Amino acid sequence: MKEYNLADRHIIELKKPEEIIIETKDLHVFYGKNEAIKGVDLPFEKNKITALIGPSGCGKSTYLRSLNRMNDEIPNTTVTGEIIYKNVDVNSKEVDVYEMRKRIGMVFQRPNPFSKSIYENITFALKRHGEKDKKKLDEIVETSLKQAALWDQVKDSLHQSAHALSGGQQQRLCIARAIAMKPDILLLDEPASALDPISTSTVEETLINLKKDYSIIIVTHNMQQAARISDYTAFFYLGYAIEYDDTRKIFTRPKIKATEDYVSGHFG
Ligand SMILES: Nc1ncnc2c1ncn2[C@@H]1O[C@H](COP(=O)(O)OP(=O)(O)OP(=O)(O)O)[C@@H](O)[C@H]1O
Ligand SMILES: [Mg+2]
Repeated sequence: MKEYNLADRHIIELKKPEEIIIETKDLHVFYGKNEAIKGVDLPFEKNKITALIGPSGCGKSTYLRSLNRMNDEIPNTTVTGEIIYKNVDVNSKEVDVYEMRKRIGMVFQRPNPFSKSIYENITFALKRHGEKDKKKLDEIVETSLKQAALWDQVKDSLHQSAHALSGGQQQRLCIARAIAMKPDILLLDEPASALDPISTSTVEETLINLKKDYSIIIVTHNMQQAARISDYTAFFYLGYAIEYDDTRKIFTRPKIKATEDYVSGHFG
C-alpha cells in the first residue's frame, strides 16, 4: 500500500454553525492499547445525510458507535475527547445513556428485528418507556412505518412475525423502530450491505425522505451509495478523518491524494 502523509487533511467547517446537530472534538477510541480513532474533529449538520467512507478497519464503525456510546458495551474500550450534542458532552459520566439513545438512535448492518410481531417491534421500547395509550401507540406505529416506507406493505399484517418479512423490509422495520422513539439523529452502519439491489434502493429512498425530519449519519462501503444519498462525506483512513467536504467535491475533486486514490478505486 502507498504511503500517504497523514498530516495532509482537508476538513471543511460547516457554513452554518448554528445548524450543527452533533460534533466530536479530539475524539480518540482505544480497544485496550489499540488506538482505533486517533483524534477526530467533525461537525454534522442538521437534516442532512453525512456518509462515512474508507477502507475496512479504518475506524468508521468505531467512530459511529461512539456517537451514542455503543462502545460502552465493549470491554476495555476507552473513549476520550468530546461529543457535543445540544451543549452536552455525550461522553461525560453524568449523561443518562438510556435517555440519550432515545435522541440518538442506531440501525445496524444486519436487520435485527425482535422475535415479535411487526407491531410489537415498534411499540416495545415505547411501552418500556411507559406509553400505554393504545390509540397513541397505533398512531406511532402507523407514522413510523409510513416514514420508513413500509406501511402499505404491512398494514394488514401488523400482528404477524417480523421474521416473515424480507431482508429489505426487516431493515425498514428496524428504521421504523428507531424513528418511533423520535430521535434527532439516526446512526446507520452499512444498513444496506446485507440487502439485494432493489431493497437497497428502497432503503436509500427511505433515508432521503427521512432527512427532512432527522439528521442522518451513515457508514457505507458503497461509494455509489454515498454519492447518491449523502450531502457531506468524511473519508476515514487508519483512524483519522482525512477529508471532509460536500459529497460532490469528495467524489469529483478531492483535495487529498489518499481520498482521490480511494474514491477512484485504487485501494480499499
Ligand atoms: N470490538 C472490538 N474489539 C477490539 N478491536 C476492535 C473492535 N472493533 C473494532 N476493532 C478494531 O478497531 C479498528 C477499527 O475497526 P472498525 O470496525 O471501526 O473499522 P471499519 O472502518 O468499520 O471497518 P469495516 O469497513 O470492515 O467495517 C480495527 O483495527 C479493528 O480491529
Ligand atoms: Mg464497520
